[in-house]
Formats: sequence, C-alpha cells, structure tokens
Amino acid sequence: MLSKRSAIVLIFLLSGVLGFAMSWYFHSDTRTDVQTIETFHYPALFVNQLRGDSRAGEKIFKEFCGACHAKQPTIDVRAPRIGDKQAWQVRQQVGMASLLKITVDGVRAMPARGGCFECNDQQLRETIKYILKKSQ
Ligand code: HEC
Repeated sequence: MLSKRSAIVLIFLLSGVLGFAMSWYFHSDTRTDVQTIETFHYPALFVNQLRGDSRAGEKIFKEFCGACHAKQPTIDVRAPRIGDKQAWQVRQQVGMASLLKITVDGVRAMPARGGCFECNDQQLRETIKYILKKSQ
C-alpha cells in the first residue's frame, strides 16, 4: 500500500504531467489557427505572414487596394484601375519615391497607406510595383 505521503507526491507529479500535456495540446492547436489566417480581419497577422513572400505585393493589392483599384472595384471612387495602361503610364513617370509618398499620405478618396496601416513602406512599395507591372 502507498503511504499517504507518497500518494500525495504521486498526485502532485501526475497533475504536473497532465498540465504540461494540456498546455502542449492547446498551444499547438492555437498555432495551426494562426498559420491559416488569410484575411484582412486580422491585418497585423496577415501582413506579418507576408515577410519574405515574393507575392506579397499581389496579396496586399487583393486584400487592401483592390476594393478601389481592381478592374471592377467594389467602391467606385474613380481610382485608376489596375491594367489601365494610360492611367498608370502618367503616374509611373512621377517615380516610385513620389508614388510611395502619395500612398503613405493618402490623396483625395484614398486613405493614408491605401488603408493598409499595418503595411510597412517596403510592402507598399512592392504593392505599387505590382500595380505598375500589371498595367504596362
Ligand atoms: C478607398 C479607395 C482606395 C483604396 C483602398 C486605395 N486607393 Fe489608391 N487611389 C485611390 C484614388 C481615388 C486614387 C486617385 C487619387 C487622385 O489622384 O484623385 C488613388 C491613387 C493611387 C495611386 C496613384 C497616386 C497618384 O499620383 O495619382 C497609387 C500609387 C495608389 N493609389 C496606390 C494604392 C495602394 C498601394 C493601395 C493599397 C495598399 C491603395 N492605393 C488603396 C483610392 C484608393
């Protein structure tokens, strides 16, 4: 028979093992959740996942800029549309530094940072490059 004292020690150890197992189980569960987020409803996570992604510009465009700049925008505020060669040719001549500054500050109907407040300047630059590439 176990003594009362070793029974207490045993229960103590088992609860530790159980606690560890549960924290591992729930922790790994949360991690898979985070890895599958692909929506601007969690913009900080979404943008963070794009670090080092060669298609970051395209993905940011689709999540944030497309609403106004898509070929068929959901909000028609007369933004220059992607693929509109004429509209973007003029703007391309302005140069990347100016285009980035305008995007960061916002202009008329366009909010600051094109609405992607979580995007850093480099990510916005990549997105503008994507728009220009698709509009040649
Ligand atoms: C709510 C609508 C809206 C969203 C969202 C938006 N834009 Fe715009 N954007 C505009 C409008 C409108 C203009 C044209 C402004 C003007 O010249 O009258 C514009 C113009 C621009 C221009 C050209 C600036 C110039 O000199 O005319 C760039 C570059 C640009 N947007 C980049 C972006 C990027 C990158 C995003 C996403 C991160 C974005 N925009 C999101 C509305 C939007």
